[in-house]
Amino acid sequence: HDHVAHAAAKPASSAAPTVSVTELTGPQSGKPDRQFTLTAEKKTVRLSSGKEVDAWTYNGQIPGPELRMKEGELVEVTLINKDIEDGATIHWHGLDVPNAEDGVAGATQNAVMPGETHTYRFRAEQVGTFWYHSHQHSKEAVQKGLFGALVVEPKGQGYKDLKDITVITHVWKRAGFAIGASDTIERLAIAPGTPVRLRLINTDDWVRQTYTVIGTEFQVAAIDGTDLNKPGPLRNTRLELLTGGRYDVAFTMPDGPVYLEVGAGEGLGLFMSPDGKGDLPPTPATVPFEPQHYGSPASTPFDADSVFDREFTMILDNKLGFYNGAFSAYDTINGAVFPNTPMFVVREGEQVKTTIVNRSSVDHPMHLHGHHMLVLSRNGVRITGSPWWSDTLDVAPGETYEVAFRTDNPGIWMDHCHNLQHAAAGMTMHLMYE
Ligand code: C2O
Ligand code: CU
Repeated sequence: HDHVAHAAAKPASSAAPTVSVTELTGPQSGKPDRQFTLTAEKKTVRLSSGKEVDAWTYNGQIPGPELRMKEGELVEVTLINKDIEDGATIHWHGLDVPNAEDGVAGATQNAVMPGETHTYRFRAEQVGTFWYHSHQHSKEAVQKGLFGALVVEPKGQGYKDLKDITVITHVWKRAGFAIGASDTIERLAIAPGTPVRLRLINTDDWVRQTYTVIGTEFQVAAIDGTDLNKPGPLRNTRLELLTGGRYDVAFTMPDGPVYLEVGAGEGLGLFMSPDGKGDLPPTPATVPFEPQHYGSPASTPFDADSVFDREFTMILDNKLGFYNGAFSAYDTINGAVFPNTPMFVVREGEQVKTTIVNRSSVDHPMHLHGHHMLVLSRNGVRITGSPWWSDTLDVAPGETYEVAFRTDNPGIWMDHCHNLQHAAAGMTMHLMYE
């Protein structure tokens, strides 16, 4: 059959495999191992600066409560919308849940309106660092605070003795202050010899957030929730995250202080030392982290030499024109804005390769729902390090990536730029199973 299919043009076949409803929903019965209730509500939140902002919150706080669970657990989350007139949902960013649990208003469910509730049920199959956020008017919802961290720990004993710290950053733009774990300089006392894992999550549109670990060698243990194979020691290396992406950083607490600086010279960060006291170390000169040659290769279900059932191309660009009644520059996928962007149509059980090219002049963190993309190459150079699985790929101007995934999660899935301003302005498309 044809290897290159431009999905929208591919005719539906009468031999299309049948997708059953049970594949599209989480387990409908069974006692949950873990239950959470999140109430979406408006709240005036006081920042550490003393400024007050009108926020949209889960359970009255920003970030919303951190949801922790163990691998394999059946999780049930009830969303109650108290008073967000725009409506709310919960999307489990990076967790490949069944389609009906994905929390996308207008695609997998209706927005939950004030006074309504919605229950999500899924099994936590992937270990790692994720986050959740509303996917109804996402741009406003995330900016105003409807998000939180989600961590899946390995089953069994898990992380015994580990100092496990989530650093979820959010810049409160309108007030000009950052909030969250990186409120200002947070100080922690950690005994020398303690294993530490920092879970870095960037929630901010536009911001290429930088994270610099000062005072110790460290490893990047995971990207977008997936552990890397044999990550080596790094020093004077800065990590950069576009919105939606995650890095897990691991090190053993040394005798002296360690400082995680967030941003550059903005006074945001996490200071760790045996007694939590001490001076901030100076910021060294750093080089950016290069994931494509980091760690060691390991076998994967497919790779750059595989035969692919379908190949797609996503050209990210911008052009001038009329959009929403105004003449301006806007960002496009294959020359179009939603709903005229392509729809990639697949069948269950295929291997798909996508080439993503950024011809525009700005960053685009491309987020595919429901699937993880194995990065095959960056700018024409094959990945030689650890297998690198991404759900939110940082595609900088001029870059080209080849990625691949298996169609093992039927439904209709969003594929969009996670700069939510771009997504709202049309940089959104769908992957659909026929
Ligand atoms: Cu984190 Cu479609 O979103
Ligand atoms: Cu973008």
